Order: sequence, then structure tokens, then C-alpha cells
Amino acid sequence: MRIYQLGKLGSLDGLKITEAAIPQPGPSQVRVRMRACALNHRDLNIIFGTYTSVPLKPGAIPVSDGAGEIAAIGPGVTRWKVGDRVAPIFVQRWLGGDLKPEFMPSALGGPSDGVLAEQIVLSEDGLVRIPTHMNFEQAATLPCAAVTAWNAVHVQGKLQSGRTLVTLGTGGVSLFAAQFGMLAGARVIATTGSDEKAARLRKLGISDVINYRSVPDWHVRVRELTDGLGADLVVEVGGSGSLAKSIAALRHCGHVSAVGNLAGKAMIDPGTLFSKRASMCGIQVGSRDMFEAMNRAIDVNKLQPVMDRVFDFTDARAAYEYLASEAHFGKVLIRVP
Ligand SMILES: NC(=O)c1ccc[n+]([C@@H]2O[C@H](COP(=O)([O-])OP(=O)(O)OC[C@H]3O[C@@H](n4cnc5c(N)ncnc54)[C@H](OP(=O)(O)O)[C@@H]3O)[C@@H](O)[C@H]2O)c1
Repeated sequence: MRIYQLGKLGSLDGLKITEAAIPQPGPSQVRVRMRACALNHRDLNIIFGTYTSVPLKPGAIPVSDGAGEIAAIGPGVTRWKVGDRVAPIFVQRWLGGDLKPEFMPSALGGPSDGVLAEQIVLSEDGLVRIPTHMNFEQAATLPCAAVTAWNAVHVQGKLQSGRTLVTLGTGGVSLFAAQFGMLAGARVIATTGSDEKAARLRKLGISDVINYRSVPDWHVRVRELTDGLGADLVVEVGGSGSLAKSIAALRHCGHVSAVGNLAGKAMIDPGTLFSKRASMCGIQVGSRDMFEAMNRAIDVNKLQPVMDRVFDFTDARAAYEYLASEAHFGKVLIRVP
């Protein structure tokens, strides 16, 4: 079988495809025949060597997100049978409750082996059942981007019907956040740097769209659109390029779910938070419990993930290049044959 491995980091030359023996599940483990993988911005950070929060294992299999079916079970497995359709959870040891630092080495695609392989072995606890209406490619979009958005919007963000949510850009996390906001009956105001993507946001049902390039003071526009009050929640993926504006876009007692740093690491003046009694919370993807709660909502509402392009397994490098170009709208996938 074929797997990808991370070689020397710093460029896409670090992505190597190679032959490996089919792994055999040990006690309480299962082998998953992967059918699709999805890229996240984090996968770019890892391959380009800018992901410094955890040490990476040389030769690790990259990519955290995917979906497939159970191909074999090890001794003592009770949660799964051969043929079950599953997706791995991002932090394999984070099943519920609070995230503990000692769980982080079990994050897939760095430092633990990820999913960009034809077959992988995981603990039976590190998987969830995928929504019945989704094919493998749709389900592969869920483990990092969707769970992060769910955590940011519902768990930490506590978004309610009638409230206003702001999303930034049209990457995987932001589009899931916008979709969860609409499902919750909230008003969604979305930003993007592209007029063409603005039109696609409107087609998704988001009528309030702001181009953050032509309207650099987009936070002022958010306040205008909310009769001067500001938004209840911002799912913040920009970091230094946008955090001060995200806080300025909030109403009194509003909340920022701090997810990413697409525009660099942020420095903020704490006074901007306490003067409006706003709150901010860092998000680290989410637990298995959150993934399962999200899947119940996805199932009931038959949510369709926003997917851009699907690349062949042997074209993984092209998939990475496409994600890095920021031409995408939603998720970029790799089909596993
Ligand atoms: N903390 C966590 O647990 C967690 C989990 C997942 C992701 N993240 C982080 O969240 C961020 C987004 O991840 P992703 O995988 O969704 O990314 P992605 O799919 O690669 O999305 C990138 C998109 O973001 C938009 N963008 C780029 N620069 C921007 C800026 N300065 N302001 C506003 N929008 C901007 C662009 O969309 P337009 O062309 O529409 O402008 C771009 O296409 C990354 O920093 C990632 O590392 C964190």
C-alpha cells in the first residue's frame, strides 16, 4: 500500500509518496481503509516548517482529516465492525471534558502519524461514525475544520438564534462556522477578499458580505449593518491582521472565538476587551464528544459541506499548492483509491 511521509520540512519537496506494509491492528485498535482526505491550513504550516507548537516526528504521515471504512479489527474491539464508515478525531486522546496538554502529542498529521495513506491503524476510541447522508469525501471535511467551527460557534461561542455572527474569509473553518450560524437561526455577516467569492457566499444564503480588501475598515461596516450595536460573536481566523478589528466589530459583552493566525501572530490592547466587557477564548479543534454532537446536528439538518476541488491521491502536492494559492472556496480534498 502507499503512504505519504514528511521528509525535510520547508517546501513541498518534503512530501514523499512511498510503499509501506499494510499495518495490523493490535488490541483495541482498528485498521481503516481510507477513502478521502481533506487539507487544512495547518497542513501547509507543517510542510513549510512554520508549525512550531509541537515537535514533529521525522517520516510522519501528514494530514489530520479523512474518512474511510473499518477494514480489520484487533482483539477486544467493541465499538466497531468491519465495513463501518468512520472519521478519525483530530486529537486522538481527547474524548471529552477539557483538553489536557498531555493529549496534544496524539494530534494526527503531526506529531502522530496522520491519514494521507491507503490504510491506517488507530485506537478504536479515536474514531466517530460519519453522517449517513455523506459520502467519504464530504465526511473527510469534518474532523478539524468543522469541529473547530462547531466549538467556536456553539461550545465556546454559545451562539443563539437571532444573534449576529461574523466570519472571516472563505476557508474551511469560516464556511463551516457560517453554515452552523445559519442553521442556528443567527444572522451571518461574512467577509472575503474576493468579489467572486462574495457572490458564492451570497449563493449560500449569506446576504451580508463585506470585501475586506475594498473595505479595509470592515468592522465599521459590521457596526453599520447592526444599527451601531456590533456583532455578538466573531470566529477569528486572521490574527494580527484582523483581531483588533474583530474586537471593534463586537457589541458590548460580545465574544471572539480565537481560532487562527492567517495574517500573523496578534498583539492586542486588553483595554479593547475590558472597555466593552467582551470575552475571548482560544479554540483547539474539539473533543470526540463535540464531534459526535456536531454530527447529530449535521444529520438532522442534512448539512452539505462546501467543497472546492478533489485531487487524485498521486496529486497530493497539487492539492497542497492549490490550498496555498488561496483560490479555494471551502475544502480541498484528496481521493484515496
Ligand atoms: N485553533 C484551531 O484549533 C484551529 C483549527 C483549524 C484551523 N485553525 C487556523 O484557522 C485558520 C483558518 O484555517 P483554515 O484551514 O480554515 O484555512 P483555509 O481553508 O486555508 O482558509 C484560508 C482562507 O482564509 C481567508 N484569509 C486569508 N487571509 C485572511 C485575512 N488576513 N483575513 C481574513 N481572511 C483571510 C482567505 O479567504 P478569502 O479569499 O475568502 O479572503 C483564504 O482563502 C488558520 O490560521 C488555521 O491554522 C486553527
